[in-house]
Amino acid sequence: MSAYLQIKDLHKTFYPHGQPLKVLDGIDLDVEKGEIFGIIGFSGAGKSTLACCINRLEKADSGTIELGGTDILSLSKDQLLKQRHKMGMIFQNFNLFDSMTVYQNIAYPLEISGVPPKEIKQRVSETAELVGLTEKLKAHPGALSGGQKQRVGIARAIVTKPDFIISDEATSALDPQTTIQILDLLKEINQKYGITILMITHELDAIRYTCNRMAVLEGGKITESGLVRDIFENPHSKTGELFAKVFMLFQSPEFTKGEGI
Ligand SMILES: Nc1ncnc2c1ncn2[C@@H]1O[C@H](COP(=O)(O)OP(=O)(O)OP(=O)(O)O)[C@@H](O)[C@H]1O
Ligand SMILES: [Mg+2]
Repeated sequence: MSAYLQIKDLHKTFYPHGQPLKVLDGIDLDVEKGEIFGIIGFSGAGKSTLACCINRLEKADSGTIELGGTDILSLSKDQLLKQRHKMGMIFQNFNLFDSMTVYQNIAYPLEISGVPPKEIKQRVSETAELVGLTEKLKAHPGALSGGQKQRVGIARAIVTKPDFIISDEATSALDPQTTIQILDLLKEINQKYGITILMITHELDAIRYTCNRMAVLEGGKITESGLVRDIFENPHSKTGELFAKVFMLFQSPEFTKGEGI
C-alpha cells in the first residue's frame, strides 16, 4: 500500500533580488497514516518552504505531492479550499489575529468555509475544552502566555477535524515545561483522532519525545530517514551527526554536573 503522504522529487527555487536560490532540491518523503513523522534541519534548511509547498501557501516548481490519494499540486482553487479543511497548520509564531478573541480565532476556519453558526459554537466549545482554553474564549491573544497562544493555534488547526496537521516549529518559542505540555497535546490529538502529524522542528528532543520515524533535511535534500532511534545511534548525514553529537554532549557527566565542558 502506498504511503498517506507521498512526496516525489519536489523542487522549489526562490529568486531573491533576481538571483536563484534553490531551497528544495528533489525531496522524496513517505509518511504513513496515523503517525507523527519528524523532519529536522538547521535554520534555512528549507523546512518551512516544504511545509508551505504541502499546503500550497507556496507553489512548488516541480514534483508531486499526494495526500490521502489526492494530487495536491493539481487541485483547482475551489478544490484547494476544501482540501485545506482536511489539513491543519500550526505555526511557530502562532499567527493569530490579535484583534479577534480566542473564540473568533478558533472559529475563523469554520466561518470561511460556511459552517452554520450553531455548529461553529458547538465545535469551538468542544475544541477549546480539548486544548484547555475554555476559560479564555473571550480573551484576546495579547493577554495570553506563549503556551496558551499555541493552544489557540492548535485549536484553530484541529477545529475543522482535519486528517493531517503540519506543525512547523510549534514549540520553538516555548519554555521546556510548556513545550512538553504542547507536545503531549499533539500526541493526544494524534492518538485520540488518528490525525497524521508532520512535525517540523530544529529541536531533536521534540522529535525524540513524539516521533517514531523521522527524516533529516539538509541543503534542500532529505539526507537520511528512518527510525528516530537508528538515526540517533548511527547518523549518516552531517546534520544527523551534529544533532546526535550535541545530544551526547548534553548527556555527558561534566555537563550534567553543571561544571561546564
Ligand atoms: N519567499 C521567499 N523568497 C525568497 N527566499 C526565501 C523565501 N522563503 C524562504 N526563503 C529562503 O529559503 C531558505 C529556506 O527558508 P525556510 O524558511 O524554508 O527555512 P527553515 O528551514 O524553515 O528555517 P528556520 O529553521 O529558520 O525556520 C532561506 O535561505 C530563506 O531565506
Ligand atoms: Mg522555518
